[in-house]
Amino acid sequence: MGQGVRFAIIGAGAIGAVHARLISSLPGSASLVAVVDTDIDRARSLATLFGANPYTDAVAAYAAEDIDAVAVCTPSARHGDAAVEALNAGKDVLIEKPLATTLSEADRIIAAEKLSGRTVTVISQRRFQPPAVGIRHSIRRGDLGRITSGIAESVFFRSQEYYDSGDWRGTASVDGGGALMNQGIHTLDLLLWMMGEPVEVSAQTATIAHERIDVEDVAAATIRFASGAIGVLLASTAAYPGLPVRITVHGDQGVAGMVDDHLELFESRLVERHPLDRDVDAAGSPLVEGWSPVDIAHRAQYEDFIGAVVDRRQPGRAGIDRDCRGYAGGTARQGRRCDRDVSRRPAASGAGDAVPEIRYARLGRQAAGVHSPGRAGHPRRGRRREDAGNVVLGAALAS
Ligand SMILES: NC(=O)c1ccc[n+]([C@@H]2O[C@H](COP(=O)([O-])OP(=O)(O)OC[C@H]3O[C@@H](n4cnc5c(N)ncnc54)[C@H](O)[C@@H]3O)[C@@H](O)[C@H]2O)c1
Repeated sequence: MGQGVRFAIIGAGAIGAVHARLISSLPGSASLVAVVDTDIDRARSLATLFGANPYTDAVAAYAAEDIDAVAVCTPSARHGDAAVEALNAGKDVLIEKPLATTLSEADRIIAAEKLSGRTVTVISQRRFQPPAVGIRHSIRRGDLGRITSGIAESVFFRSQEYYDSGDWRGTASVDGGGALMNQGIHTLDLLLWMMGEPVEVSAQTATIAHERIDVEDVAAATIRFASGAIGVLLASTAAYPGLPVRITVHGDQGVAGMVDDHLELFESRLVERHPLDRDVDAAGSPLVEGWSPVDIAHRAQYEDFIGAVVDRRQPGRAGIDRDCRGYAGGTARQGRRCDRDVSRRPAASGAGDAVPEIRYARLGRQAAGVHSPGRAGHPRRGRRREDAGNVVLGAALAS
């Protein structure tokens, strides 16, 4: 059995360990050959566990090993450097969410991808979960009629200890954002993947229940979509004890909703059958004992990425927008409306699902109509308080 796509993991922390397990669960399709971490002990312990070689420097790993693809699992603000370095070395790249913490970093990755001719994707593993795919298919088939509204709730609790547990957690400079950018991004991604292109956003953020962080622990937004439908988003890390993730999409002929990993409701005046009875091909991976549905979905995204690398095509269900300038620039210039060029690249041939695009826009407080009431105190790490009012939207657009 061959080694398949030979991976290096950059960042041997919590999610790096998950990636190592995912890669090693795909024998014949993928293998882990190197683990890179600035902390050699971390690199060594993960590498040893999975029969790979440890490095503190990615370039040294690229020189010493035969590496086809790189999984970037560093803290969020370090994604750009690691991804560009890998692309410049001719590797295909899979980046943990979020793609980057600033638009200029996202642009840098996109430019390096273009120059290198390699494939880049960003982890949006929840797009591979059957209920999410089922709802999206229902919407696209018209089962719910005309889509009128959607609600996404990402209501978690993270203790103060969580934020204190790592230097970079809760920092605007490295974490890039809080309840929305870090924890809520998956839910927002799904809402936009289901509802389509956002054209207007109004939002508020606040830091209410945590200290010594300079990111939001509550964010709320209303989103107007190109279709005319309206969405509502709530993301929090300050909601004890935390609730399951919930997404509901309403149409004038039906409703569909998911809670965590399950389809919670489906009712339609137009069709009788439940969407999961039909052509849902999500997370086709076999079940593995002890693996959560999210693990399975994560692995399904790996399989999709590996297929893209082998076939030299774009990943089929998640990817990055190579043209986010229009969206971001429009947002920054024109205030509340997120106007942008709506023309899209055609779906890549061979993709199992139409190719969606993820657009990342840094919406300034004024630009996006984001109002952060601010809070006295906690001017940690030299950041100005107002900076925390920024909201980064990782917007997944259906093609
Ligand atoms: N998809 C998901 O559901 C999911 C879940 C958790 C985390 N994440 C994302 O994964 C990323 C990492 O999160 P984590 O919780 O694993 O963090 P972590 O702090 O546990 O691990 C980060 C690791 O990167 C190493 N590192 C830092 N800078 C580096 C550099 N320049 N080169 C090489 N190694 C470097 C650190 O030493 C550390 O071992 C974040 O962007 C986070 O948003 C995604």
